[in-house]
Amino acid sequence: MNLPQRKPLDYSVLTQEQFDNEMNKGFNDLREGKVLTSKQVRQNMTARWTGEPTMVKYETDRLIIRDYIDSDLDGLHRLMSDKKNMYFLDDILTDTVEETKVHLHTAVSNSDGHYFCICDRQTGEYIGSVGYTTTSTNPLGKIGHMGFFILPEFHGNGYTPEAAKITLDFAFKEDGYVRITTGCFKDNLPSQKVMKKVGFRKEAEGIKAQYHDGAMKDRLEYAINKDEWPDISNKS
Ligand SMILES: CC(C)(COP(=O)(O)OP(=O)(O)OC[C@H]1O[C@@H](n2cnc3c(N)ncnc32)[C@H](O)[C@@H]1OP(=O)(O)O)[C@@H](O)C(=O)NCCC(=O)NCCS
Repeated sequence: MNLPQRKPLDYSVLTQEQFDNEMNKGFNDLREGKVLTSKQVRQNMTARWTGEPTMVKYETDRLIIRDYIDSDLDGLHRLMSDKKNMYFLDDILTDTVEETKVHLHTAVSNSDGHYFCICDRQTGEYIGSVGYTTTSTNPLGKIGHMGFFILPEFHGNGYTPEAAKITLDFAFKEDGYVRITTGCFKDNLPSQKVMKKVGFRKEAEGIKAQYHDGAMKDRLEYAINKDEWPDISNKS
């Protein structure tokens, strides 16, 4: 279709068909992830000017929550290849370092979501992962699904809820998300406790909803919407 040659494009001179087509092109770009978030634009510009990719990095009293770097691979591999700890995440259990490396590079290069490394603020020790992937995009923003897993020696210190809250704050305030969902098997009690501590609202209980370890198991689904986040984050 040829559009009238007037720059900048004057929408008032378009026919209805041309206008609809332009709007559809915009929605398609959003759907296909061709539209950059303000975060991505900032990262791209900074990288171009300084030659250094920017790192998203947050600190709490106890933790650093930041983008992954190559030297995190050993810690991540220890985490992802631990069969017992990965019991509920057996679909991403890895065997070799190469497999973990592929997982890391895929997760980090995925523009649809954010994958954070959790480290001890004092010692720098690797603790685990928290992040989300985009499940859909609409004109108001993105919907993402969150996941988390940490090394067994750090369980029970409240590290995951602490890191998940920082991650949600980033998703809603900086990364264009309007809703974050998450979920777990009903027999994953530690995970349920994390969801509760973070402030996730339980939305559904799927009965015998997903195959796991030889059985069809119940699943719990949770969500937080962007407009709920200020109240939830102020309470915790
Ligand atoms: C689920 C998980 C991320 C929780 O992280 P965490 O940082 O230990 O979370 P918390 O410290 O807030 O602990 C949550 C609760 O689970 C309990 N808990 C933690 N680890 C536990 C374990 N290995 N066995 C039994 N209970 C455990 C804690 O005591 C705590 O209970 P409380 O709130 O009554 O004190 C962590 O157990 C994990 O990585 N598990 C393996 C991977 C996994 O299942 N990920 C979630 C997939 S949906």
